[in-house]
Amino acid sequence: MFFRSIRFRLTLWYAVTIAVVLCLFSSFLYVTFRKELFKEVDEGILLIAESLADPTLEPFRSTASSAFEQVLEDFIGPKAKGKYVQLLDSAGKRGAHSENLRDFSLSLSGSAQRNAREGEPSYEIQRINGHPPLRVINYPVLEDGKLKEIVQVGASLASMTDDLDRILLVLVVSVPGAVMLLSCGGWFLAGRALHPVELITNSAQKINAENLSHRLAIVNPEDEIGRLAQTFNDTLARLEESFTKIKQFSADVSHELRTPLTILRGEMEVALRWAKEPDEFRTIIQSNLEEVKRMSDMMEALLELAKADAGKLPLDRETLDLNEIFAELLRKAQQLGAENGVEIFFEPVHPLPVSGDRARLRQLFLNLLDNAVKYTNEGGEVRIDLAAEQDRAVARIADTGIGMPPEALPFVFDRFYRVDKSRNRADGGVGLGLAIVKILAELHGGTVAVASEPGMGSVFTVTFPLSPDDDAEG
Ligand SMILES: Nc1ncnc2c1ncn2[C@@H]1O[C@H](COP(=O)(O)OP(=O)(O)O)[C@@H](O)[C@H]1O
Ligand SMILES: [Mg+2]
Repeated sequence: MFFRSIRFRLTLWYAVTIAVVLCLFSSFLYVTFRKELFKEVDEGILLIAESLADPTLEPFRSTASSAFEQVLEDFIGPKAKGKYVQLLDSAGKRGAHSENLRDFSLSLSGSAQRNAREGEPSYEIQRINGHPPLRVINYPVLEDGKLKEIVQVGASLASMTDDLDRILLVLVVSVPGAVMLLSCGGWFLAGRALHPVELITNSAQKINAENLSHRLAIVNPEDEIGRLAQTFNDTLARLEESFTKIKQFSADVSHELRTPLTILRGEMEVALRWAKEPDEFRTIIQSNLEEVKRMSDMMEALLELAKADAGKLPLDRETLDLNEIFAELLRKAQQLGAENGVEIFFEPVHPLPVSGDRARLRQLFLNLLDNAVKYTNEGGEVRIDLAAEQDRAVARIADTGIGMPPEALPFVFDRFYRVDKSRNRADGGVGLGLAIVKILAELHGGTVAVASEPGMGSVFTVTFPLSPDDDAEG
C-alpha cells in the first residue's frame, strides 16, 4: 500500500533522477579534473625532457651520474627538483641518472622503445615496488633520423593521487547526502501537493447512493485538484438529479397504476356482489375496459420512452414535407376539435423537407394537437403555422386555451407531469404525451419549446433541421 502510493513513487522518481544527474555530474567533474592534473604533470616532464634532448646539451649528457645532478641544476633549474631523470643509449643501456634513481631504475617497455625508434615520445605510468607511481616520458634523441639516446623523465604521482582521492571522497560522501536531503524535500513537497487529494478521499468516502447531496470540499478551485473536485461535484449533482428523477418516476408509475387498479377492483367487487342482469355486467365490463385501456396506453407510452432512452427506438427515415404531415393530421384534429367546439386552422406553405419517420412525426404532432384541443375551451381555436427559419423547419401550434402558469413551464416535458392532476384524469391523460413529443423531436435532431400565459393560450414550437439533399434540389 505504502510503496504504491503516489507520494512514494513521486519521491522515488525524484530521488532516482537526482542521483543519476549528480552521479553523471560528479563523474564528469572527476574525469575532467584527473585529465587536467595529468596534463599538467605531462607538460612538466615534457619540458624537462625537451631541454635535456637539446643538441647543445649533448656533451653534458655523457657525464658521469655523480655530476649529472649538477648538470640538471645548472641547465634545468628548480623545475628538475624531485624529478626522476635517466638517460638510455639506443640499445636501452642505462647512462647518467639523477640522484634519486640510485637504488632503482626506470624501465623501458617494448612499445616505448618502438615509439622512440620512430622518433615519437611516449608516456606511461610505472609502478615500482616501495615507491609512489611515476608518470614517465620516454623522449627520443635523434641524430640523422636515427635513435641515439632516450631521455626518461619521471614525476611522482603521489600528490596528484592524493588530490584525486580527496575529491573522490568528497563526492562519495556528498552525492548520497545530497540525494537523501533532496529526497526528504521531495517527500515533503509531494505530501503537501497531495494533501487536497487526501481531503477529497475522506469526503468522497462519505458519499453513497443515500447521500448524494453531499459535496466535496474544494480547497483551491483554481488548481488541478480543485478543478477535479469541481468536476466530480458537477457529476454528483447530475447523478443526484437523475436519481431523484428515477425515484420520482417509480413513485409516479405506481401511483398511476394504483388508481385504475383500485377502480377496477371496486367495480369487479360490485359486479360480483350486486349485478344480476347481463346489462349490468355489460356496463361494468365497459367501464373496466376503459380502465384497462388507460393502463395499457400508459404501458405502451412507457415502453416507447424506455426504448427511446436506450436508443432502441428505430426510426424509419425518409424525406418528408411537413405540410404533408399536417395535411394528413388535419382531418383527425378537426374531428377532435369538433367534439370540443374548437376550430383548427392550417394553411400549407412552400415545401419544408425534413428527414424523419412518418409515423413518429405524426405521433409527435398529434400529441401536440390533442393537447391543444383538450386544453382549449369551447369556441377557442388552434392555429398551425409552418415556416423555414435559416436552415430549420419550424412548426408552431398555438391555441387560445387555458394556458399554463410560468412555474409549470420548466416541467411540462417531464414524465407524468400535469399542471392540474385532478382535472386531467377526466380527460384521460397521464402526463406522458409531452415527454414523448420531446424525445421524438430530439431523436430527429430537433427541439421543442413552449411559451404560455394562463388564460391566454399556449404556443408549442418544434424545429427540425431542413433536409439537405432536398435543399440542393430546390
Ligand atoms: N396546449 C396546452 N395548453 C395548456 N396546458 C397544456 C397544453 N399542453 C400540455 N399542457 C399541460 O401539460 C401537461 C402535460 O401534457 P402531456 O404530457 O401531454 O400530458 P397529458 O396526458 O395530461 O396530456 C398537461 O397535463 C397540461 O397540464
Ligand atoms: Mg397530452
